[in-house]
Amino acid sequence: MHNVLIMQNFSTIPMGDIINILQEQIQTISAQETVSFKVLNPDIMSNVYNGTIISINNQEYIYRGFKSWMELAQQMRCKMLTPQLLDENFILMRYQKLNEDASFHAADIKKEEKYGEASIFSQIHKNEEASFIYYYKQALKNVNVDKRLRILNLGVNSGDEFEALIKESQNFNTLELLGIDYCSSAIKRAEEKFQKYKNIKFLEYDINHLNDLNLEKFDLIISIGTLQSSNLEYNKLLMSIVQNQLKRDGAMILGFPNCRWIDGEMIYGARVKNYSFSEMGLLYKDVIFAKKYLQQKKFRVTLTGKDYIFVTATSILAI
Ligand SMILES: C[S@@+](CC[C@H](N)C(=O)[O-])C[C@H]1O[C@@H](n2cnc3c(N)ncnc32)[C@H](O)[C@@H]1O
Repeated sequence: MHNVLIMQNFSTIPMGDIINILQEQIQTISAQETVSFKVLNPDIMSNVYNGTIISINNQEYIYRGFKSWMELAQQMRCKMLTPQLLDENFILMRYQKLNEDASFHAADIKKEEKYGEASIFSQIHKNEEASFIYYYKQALKNVNVDKRLRILNLGVNSGDEFEALIKESQNFNTLELLGIDYCSSAIKRAEEKFQKYKNIKFLEYDINHLNDLNLEKFDLIISIGTLQSSNLEYNKLLMSIVQNQLKRDGAMILGFPNCRWIDGEMIYGARVKNYSFSEMGLLYKDVIFAKKYLQQKKFRVTLTGKDYIFVTATSILAI
């Protein structure tokens, strides 16, 4: 593996300048290669904010914690490797450049199988991403999941959201779950994974024709990372789901991705066509549409999350 060692001590350089230096360096290296640089060991201090000036042997350094270095690695489209201890005050930080081509966003396959068994998407385990599962668990608690007997998941894929729901629920056997997706291989995988649960059903079906199924209404509808798909008409579909598939005293959990998946890493920030950087206009627009529409329909709505934004709605017609 090719290493590029930048001999500057970044402990005395402002973060804005470090960004410029690293951007230049990283442009010149290939994916999987690393850049390394010396910084103050974050563990030498506690209770200080980033930017605090620390004096060691009459020399001043700028303090920064690991969170800041992790964040910078993401901004530089790198993975932060385990730093190496240089001495009691300094560490060697190592950033490995990500391979931007190893992203399912770049895949060019039949639309129904874009998220299928053979896709890069199927290698993603959202439930192991702290910033996803923390807020999803919170949303399940907020809707009081155990009281929501009939639960529908639109764009269920292979069922990660059900896995977390099973763990969160105290009386899972009394619930009745249905997951819908038009991806044949994902539905097959979900059926295999959950075959021991008689109260979970999966259906391979196109959400565009949901009303044709004449489903009995649901107490909770979950849809994560699905309603903004380019083959769906977001506003129209959301209104139709609330009117036709959700009980008036029901609840909803909608998850909107505010991240991209690149070469094993979840990178913060929504991805929009024709922008090389993350742009959140569409995300905010769709989130606010859901919030306003659900409020109009007499739901109490909260917005939470980080790498995924969660719209959680519970009816004010108490259950
Ligand atoms: C980004 S994935 C999200 C999957 C899962 N909810 C998750 O977050 O891991 C979007 C899912 O929606 C499904 N999907 C997209 N358009 C659909 C449609 N018209 N009908 C049914 N499923 C659809 C895709 O097959 C895919 O499984």
